[in-house]
Amino acid sequence: MSEIKKIKEEYISKLDKVLDQHKLNEIKSELFGKNGIISNKFKQLSSINEDKRKEFASELNFLKNELQEVILKKNEDIQNQEINKKLKDDNIDVTLPGRSYFSGKIHPVSQVIDEVTSIFSEIGFSVEEGPDVENEYYNFSALNTPENHPARDMHDTFYLDRSKDLLLRTHTSPVQIRTMLKGKPPFKIIAPGRTYRHDSDQTHSPMFHQLEGLHIDKSINMGHLKGCLYYFVKKFFEVDKVKIRFRPSHFPFTEPSAEVDIGYKIQDGKIKIGEGDKWLEILGCGMVHPNVLKNAKVNPKQYQGYAFGVGIDRLAMLKYGINDLRAFFESDIRWLEFYGFDPLDVPTNYRGLSR
Ligand code: PHE
Repeated sequence: MSEIKKIKEEYISKLDKVLDQHKLNEIKSELFGKNGIISNKFKQLSSINEDKRKEFASELNFLKNELQEVILKKNEDIQNQEINKKLKDDNIDVTLPGRSYFSGKIHPVSQVIDEVTSIFSEIGFSVEEGPDVENEYYNFSALNTPENHPARDMHDTFYLDRSKDLLLRTHTSPVQIRTMLKGKPPFKIIAPGRTYRHDSDQTHSPMFHQLEGLHIDKSINMGHLKGCLYYFVKKFFEVDKVKIRFRPSHFPFTEPSAEVDIGYKIQDGKIKIGEGDKWLEILGCGMVHPNVLKNAKVNPKQYQGYAFGVGIDRLAMLKYGINDLRAFFESDIRWLEFYGFDPLDVPTNYRGLSR
């Protein structure tokens, strides 16, 4: 029997008996390792007589391919066997409870901003934005606020750099000026965003959120303001009827000015908006002062309109029964888990004040 045939028979039968990966690897290196039988045979080729070399080389190549194929097949078999064994031995308990996973929640403030934006967009308001860091001109002067107004005091306003008049905006009203300066009337916009004041207790936080509204056109009057706010409150609190009270007030940038209260009562420990004999203040508003229009390059003889500013956090507290404003900004994940919104949920979960 030729040498090649011997090797073949010996190793085919060896491979046939192999049962595990370890043994297979051993045989592989016995054959094809650095000093393996096949590798050595190839090295010997040069010392073989020329007339026999070609035939030997081709036989050797043939053997090499054959053995490699058998090893490959064996390798696959062993792996399949291992998988099958695992499947047989590992018992899966299908009655075990599923693994829970943590999914993110939408913060009540973001939720309310979304709701409010969609309510106003239905009646033609578009959304504007302004910077949190403002200068004194946009935040106060252009809004007709006199030099000696108490709001300008350091005790009320966070100044960043007095020499450059930089401050954290105390309301969203500067967006009125920015919007009017960059466009031409009519204007019908809302502007949600962060605002800052030197204040901190259960219902005040140094950073809070407001929504500005501004509607300027040729014949806008206080009736339009009332109609708009009635529509908004009814839609937002999802009630058919609502009691609203306009209380005369003062803002330097509106004339006349009013503060708006909504009626409510507590029933079974929950707040009911729109009925009852109690009043809650929710916003400030008025007809835009002619000086403000002039500062914003709008002719007050031709154009007029109303503006309002709503506290967004307040709305969120009222609608979703959250008592402490400071918790909004403490970033406690357990709080968010409870009060936050599922991104795919339509919000109908009115919780009432009792919680
Ligand atoms: N900017 C006022 C505030 O922060 C609210 C307001 C806005 C009042 C627009 C009138 C018109 O209290």
